[in-house]
Amino acid sequence: MIDLARIRADTPATARRAYLHNAGAALMPIPVVDALKRHIDLEAEIGGYAAAAQEHDALEAVYGSVARLLNADPVEIALTENATVAWQMAFYALPFAPGDRILTAEAEYAANYVAYLQVAKRTGAVIDVVPSDADGALDVAALERMIDDRAKLIAITWVPTNGGLTNPAAAVGRVARAHGIPYLLDACQAVGQMPVDVEAVGCDMLAATGRKFLRGPRGTGFLYVRRGLLETLEPPMIDHFAAPWVAPDRYELRPDARRFENWENNYAARAGLGVAVEYALALGLEAIEARCRLLADRLRGGLADIRGVTLRDLGRNPSAIVSFTIEGHEASAVVAAAARAGVTIGASQPSSTLLDAQARSLPTLVRASPHYYNSEAEIDQLVAVCAELK
Ligand SMILES: Cc1ncc(COP(=O)(O)O)c(C=O)c1O
Repeated sequence: MIDLARIRADTPATARRAYLHNAGAALMPIPVVDALKRHIDLEAEIGGYAAAAQEHDALEAVYGSVARLLNADPVEIALTENATVAWQMAFYALPFAPGDRILTAEAEYAANYVAYLQVAKRTGAVIDVVPSDADGALDVAALERMIDDRAKLIAITWVPTNGGLTNPAAAVGRVARAHGIPYLLDACQAVGQMPVDVEAVGCDMLAATGRKFLRGPRGTGFLYVRRGLLETLEPPMIDHFAAPWVAPDRYELRPDARRFENWENNYAARAGLGVAVEYALALGLEAIEARCRLLADRLRGGLADIRGVTLRDLGRNPSAIVSFTIEGHEASAVVAAAARAGVTIGASQPSSTLLDAQARSLPTLVRASPHYYNSEAEIDQLVAVCAELK
């Protein structure tokens, strides 16, 4: 059960602004900010190395928290500085030969797609985009038909950065498992917004960030790699933490997912990430998802009634990322008008999901992403701002 008054008291800025930019970077709750500050204060007092040693157990527990969030084992978790690095560490560890196929989806995120292009250029692998179904989600039957011996990776984004879509990640997982194809899932916008269970989804690798719907600090992310696959993957880059230097001519990769990490880390941010994950777990991801969807539906309903507004969201089961345009108003002007009214929202460029943007001739979109800590009144405030623009 979400106790809105208590949650908003934990998030003091909610008293001063309607913050609807959680797909960008959410507001951190006080316990997260306190954990960050405490660790920085400790570093200032006794030095960074002693602070990490003193907080060793709490910092180790962050792996357990992330593992619980994902229904994984702590040895399957690497902590990174963002989702992109987590994703890259997994993707660039995979071997590709000429003609090998990377299967992805139409709403794939730019950072991932340019990596496919680079690997295709380097190795001769090819990128095949699975078409979308009539609702705009990845067409699982089409994916099934595209599988052959050369399909070496399925890599998709679960909740794309714009467009409201929730791709059928678990149905994709069933196809990947049935054919024994590695499955890399970008769950950056999913974690913290809805339950994420790597067993239920059937992914082999999953990357996510701390600062979005999880409400963690900036500069945090994590990677899950399934045990079994983990031991077969040589990270694209290593240091002496990932792979201790055991003889003049030899290193030994760590057996756990920390082979994808390196030695130096922002421990204050890690401490904050751990608290953010525990905060979400304590509220319950089902309850969080239900409230996120309720608020997003309210927003879509309010916007749909305004003349000149076009909702740009896809899928039967839209996420809390609400994308739209307003005729005669650039996205940046809508964002600025909202800001003047005390409402924080963002914009999303066509280049961040280029295939989808080109297929649908999308301009820059206004992106409003409510979270469970928002009130219904804040949603209505944004709707009013948009209505007044006409
Ligand atoms: C779908 C998706 N994947 C990956 C990322 C990258 O995350 P990070 O900035 O933490 O590297 C984003 C960020 O917006 C995203 O929306």
